[in-house]
Amino acid sequence: MSQIDVTKILLANFSSSKEADEKAKELKLGFQAHYQLARLAIGRSLGEANYPSPAPDARGRNIKGNQLFGNTGEELLWIALLVTNFEQHLPKVELTVNIFQDLIRDHWHRGIDLLLEDWREAENRYEKFIDILITRRALLPQEGGNDDNNEKLLWKGKKGPVWLTIGHLFDDNREAQWLVNGQGYAPNIALMGQAGSGKTRSMLKLLEQAQEQSGAPIILLDLGKGELAQKTELAKRLNAEVLQVPEQAIPLDMFHCIEETDNAAHVLQAFRDSFERAMASKPGAKQLDAFREALKPLFYYQENITLPQIKQALDRYYSEHKLKTDSVIATINDLIQFKLFEPEQSPESFFQQNWIITFGNATDTSKKLAGFLLIDALHNHLKRCPESELDAEGHRPLRQLLAVDEARSMLGSRHPGLSNLLRLHRSKGLCVMLASQSPDDYEGAADDYLEQIGLPICFRTNANSPKVLNNMFRATPNFSSLDKGVCLSVLDIGGVMRKVKAF
Ligand SMILES: Nc1ncnc2c1ncn2[C@@H]1O[C@H](COP(=O)(O)OP(=O)(O)OP(=O)(O)O)[C@@H](O)[C@H]1O
Ligand SMILES: [Mg+2]
Repeated sequence: MSQIDVTKILLANFSSSKEADEKAKELKLGFQAHYQLARLAIGRSLGEANYPSPAPDARGRNIKGNQLFGNTGEELLWIALLVTNFEQHLPKVELTVNIFQDLIRDHWHRGIDLLLEDWREAENRYEKFIDILITRRALLPQEGGNDDNNEKLLWKGKKGPVWLTIGHLFDDNREAQWLVNGQGYAPNIALMGQAGSGKTRSMLKLLEQAQEQSGAPIILLDLGKGELAQKTELAKRLNAEVLQVPEQAIPLDMFHCIEETDNAAHVLQAFRDSFERAMASKPGAKQLDAFREALKPLFYYQENITLPQIKQALDRYYSEHKLKTDSVIATINDLIQFKLFEPEQSPESFFQQNWIITFGNATDTSKKLAGFLLIDALHNHLKRCPESELDAEGHRPLRQLLAVDEARSMLGSRHPGLSNLLRLHRSKGLCVMLASQSPDDYEGAADDYLEQIGLPICFRTNANSPKVLNNMFRATPNFSSLDKGVCLSVLDIGGVMRKVKAF
């Protein structure tokens, strides 16, 4: 490995070619300082797979190393990138300060050419130019990086069957049990029934059993009045931390981005979907367009994004484009009154722990948004996890439990995140439990959530049974005549409807 003295580099002079200086004039990027365009050009050239050809001369304007690279820490990053690039391509050449000057000159010269091509492709328009740069960055492979988290992602879960006891069969007093992690059906549970019929307590019972047998971490979301926050015994038994949003922020980096090359675009798209669905009145197409454009630089270039940063980016865009304050701005202004989340933990670390998250005092908009973001973050996290491999008996280890109480608002919003979780992640060992009052809550979704339910549990309700439920029960059940503590369910695939005494 070459030895190179950082101080000497910072004191040395660097320049590009005369030609590059001339061409740079065509780029109307509004940079004030010489180093800004130089860094952009060098960075642009470093993104190419091959090594630059030599620049024709070194007669461009000079700049000192400490101005070109800065001197508050970032210079080391630049030098490290350049040295790595050099050693990749010319491993046998001794890197001296002179050769380092050549290296800069060649990258700088080529970078200006490449930027000029981008600029012309963007028809000399600044925003389109930025867009092209961003898209190109998104296409770069992101090899290497920090593997610390992979170990956590690779937790395989516990082998063996997970049997949940719902109660006793009504007719013969045997235990009514369901195998969550068998093959050929979804490991998801829907609990339905009118107010006070026993959904919450039944769901908690099932959740505790699932956690005990599988060892999988849980997320328990209470989208109702926040009553679960008061259950200290429950938190102890589940070994969970209780968060009362918005008094306490969810310590999760909601927009965590790695690996997939087009990830940032997807994360921004999902955020826009969530924001739109959380708003009290639906925004128009123009507003949605502005929203995406305003947040692109933030989502593509930044990590650990917060709501105040989102507000700032929206404000800047609105003022630059002379847009009037509208419902989007009003909504983000409302949202930043509370700290809904703080990007403290990566999803890998957050989803390893047990959480009870309640929204007792949250506004409807912030409750919805936080719920949606959490669900999207879980979806992205699970996408990165490997499949949960079947054990010798064909049981799939459970690796994550998600339970949502008072799920009506989430079901009704038709948010794609929830259907992603229900449809896509059973192979990753995700089990979802949803409690809401009526089977009607499931109706109207673009894809029918009920079709992704393996175990329906219906307590007393006056609502009618929808078609999908009739198919599951192979009957037209009557829920309105059920006594307190009694529910209807189907305990095995293709099985018959069973009456169960839950308590
Ligand atoms: N396992 C049980 N054992 C004894 N009683 C129970 C059990 N489950 C529910 N109950 C009774 O039913 C009441 C309501 O239960 P729970 O809060 O679970 O209903 P819910 O359907 O979630 O109601 P809501 O729609 O108001 O949230 C409890 O206060 C209790 O009296
Ligand atoms: Mg309840």
